[in-house]
Amino acid sequence: MSQAVLFEKVAFIGLGLIGSSLARVIQAQHLAKSVVASTRSVKTLQDAKQLGLIDAGFHDAGEAIKGADLIVLALPVQATQSALEKIKPFLREDAIITDVGSTKGNVVDAAKAVFGENLPKGFIPGHPIAGSEHSGVHAGKVDLFANHKVILTPLQGSDKEAVQKLIQLWQAAQAEVICMDVDRHDEVLAHTSHLPHLMAFNLVEQLASRKDNLDIFRYAAGGFRDFSRIAASDPQMWHDIFFANKKAILNAVAGFEQQLQQFKQVIENEDSQKLMGMLGHARAARQHFNHMLANQPLMENHTVTQQFTILPGTQKFEGKFTVPGDKSVSHRSIMFGAIAEGTTHVTGFLEGEDALATLQAFRDMGVSIEGPKNGEVTIHGVGINGLKAPASALYMGNSGTSMRLLSGILSAQQFDSVMTGDASLSKRPMERIAKPLRLMGAKIQTTGEKGTPPVSITGSQQLQGIHYDLPMASAQVKSGILLAGLWANGETSVTEPEPTRDHTERMLRAFGYEVKTEGNKISLIGGEKLTGTDIQVPSDISSAAFFMVGAAITQGADITLEAVGINPTRTGVIEILKQMGANLTVENERIAGGEPIADIHIRGTQTLKGIHIPEDQVPLAIDEFPALFIAAACAEGETVLTGAAELRVKESDRIQVMADGLKLLGIQCTPTADGIIIQGKGKAGDWSPVFAGGQIESHHDHRIAMSFSMAGLRAAEPITIVGTETVATSFPTFTELATQAGLLLQVSNI
Ligand code: S3P
Repeated sequence: MSQAVLFEKVAFIGLGLIGSSLARVIQAQHLAKSVVASTRSVKTLQDAKQLGLIDAGFHDAGEAIKGADLIVLALPVQATQSALEKIKPFLREDAIITDVGSTKGNVVDAAKAVFGENLPKGFIPGHPIAGSEHSGVHAGKVDLFANHKVILTPLQGSDKEAVQKLIQLWQAAQAEVICMDVDRHDEVLAHTSHLPHLMAFNLVEQLASRKDNLDIFRYAAGGFRDFSRIAASDPQMWHDIFFANKKAILNAVAGFEQQLQQFKQVIENEDSQKLMGMLGHARAARQHFNHMLANQPLMENHTVTQQFTILPGTQKFEGKFTVPGDKSVSHRSIMFGAIAEGTTHVTGFLEGEDALATLQAFRDMGVSIEGPKNGEVTIHGVGINGLKAPASALYMGNSGTSMRLLSGILSAQQFDSVMTGDASLSKRPMERIAKPLRLMGAKIQTTGEKGTPPVSITGSQQLQGIHYDLPMASAQVKSGILLAGLWANGETSVTEPEPTRDHTERMLRAFGYEVKTEGNKISLIGGEKLTGTDIQVPSDISSAAFFMVGAAITQGADITLEAVGINPTRTGVIEILKQMGANLTVENERIAGGEPIADIHIRGTQTLKGIHIPEDQVPLAIDEFPALFIAAACAEGETVLTGAAELRVKESDRIQVMADGLKLLGIQCTPTADGIIIQGKGKAGDWSPVFAGGQIESHHDHRIAMSFSMAGLRAAEPITIVGTETVATSFPTFTELATQAGLLLQVSNI
């Protein structure tokens, strides 16, 4: 991509790996009319000219910068002050001066030593976080900065236009530019880069100094190799950095020593529970941050990293499957286990990203949690007053349930808290829970643009019980209010317009907390305690629904979904599919862990028919509509859905996104304010394809991705679904099970 000329003359002081890489970007995109450099080495200048990186070379920095409107100090940070002294007399008044050093406080100090307190307006320190083990002008690469972060640290008096120009320059190098405070930069880097390097040098030095070092190194396995890789970095550079960022590094080391002491202590005391808690917390945090480490700025962008392609021609769709644990129940098992007294054992826990976000949040609030391992989790409850202030914002990923239910819990705590989420969650309405909580006395703000996340809560408020008439059928809002009610004075009650999933009520009772249900009114009295218990999470009917629909639309299909939760507040999908004429039986009904479960057997024996979906079934099938729309498209006749406006505020606007996708695949449909009308293409006894091929956008919504996967069973051409990484939020084994059943599904990383 070529850009307009940004600069008249760019002068590099120093032209090693970083400087020459930036020069390559400038030349490749013609961002400057001329580029010059000054270095001491004759050879570097000759080579740079030969490589076409510079138009002229100088040995004197002052000479080089004459007339330059951008000066890049690309030399060791220690040399900053003397370079600035040399160029000072020749500076253009409007020149932008930046650098590429990995510490910033000392660069600012060097500039102050030269210019005094009033630094030039164009002085804007910078730090591209990119490098390589090679150095020198030949090692530079035009794409060295692509997909890397560049931190700029503008000062109070820095010129805004100059900052913008530098941002443009780094963006042209395909870097992600972040602006931050000088001190913050040095503190962050001390923890994330300088301390790890120091630790690696320290460990290698410690082992290398032992007499038996040869043996030790000989037997050192992957752990040592991984950990010590960065100890092979340039000693001179790290010598300079450790001095340059002395204060922040020593602080980071002090924090490290403290943490190490804690580990020493728990090992000394053989405190197994605490040690497991600390190790588990660290592991989960590392996994959680994997996304970010992998250069996926989850909070800022819709990051599309994966797609499915479903090939036509599936010969069979059959088998017996156990889909993963129920998402709603998994969330609640962690929340209630955490605030209970005693230990809670969970089996069948959904190891999907949403439930893991809840788990991580409670670990961040000091709860020791073992697992998950094969669906087993052990939570060491801290009691109703035992949660601790998290060190930073709680990240809820894609999960609305985590954020809304936790809003209730956090509003009643003695500490302040902030909750953030990914791109999809950041668009979802949070005022629906904030409003009733405020009526209870909570200090809660939705700080996003339209009553959306981040959610910010001020603690230490004594909540009062209220009665609240829910304006919408939402189990999340109901649950958030009831949870706040646990800490409120007196009775808290809610009336729902229609019954919604009642897992909160059931599970509170399982934890020994009294909850009353009279018709659509649910109430509890605050101030009691929860007692740890065993929770068996049933398989998620919402995940089973994709296979139910897949089987209903495929000739000869024969699928059994085992041990699925059939709580009556969740079985709308069964009722609706039956009304559409599906061959579906519920077998082997039993109770497990306080929730009814059964095996669901469904066969593709007859063409479905379109129906008007009864409105009382809507809350009972709220998450299953994307899949049901696929069924409706394969049915004979029209299917009409009304009373389902809530679908517009799920992980995506599921009415619009489904309508767009269906139309793209050749299905006639009309989205309405609170539903959709779908013209089914099916004909009795005819199992030929109803969908054309095409590329579907999932809009960061797991259920959209899985629903259109099932459309592949009746498609004439391949269907590609872009943005399927969110499937892992609720159904991490989806591709495995769907492939086993016979769906021709290919996963590709993009
Ligand atoms: C859920 C309630 C529903 C549902 C969501 C899970 C819960 O949301 O869509 O997937 O666990 O309480 P609403 O409360 O917004 O309807």
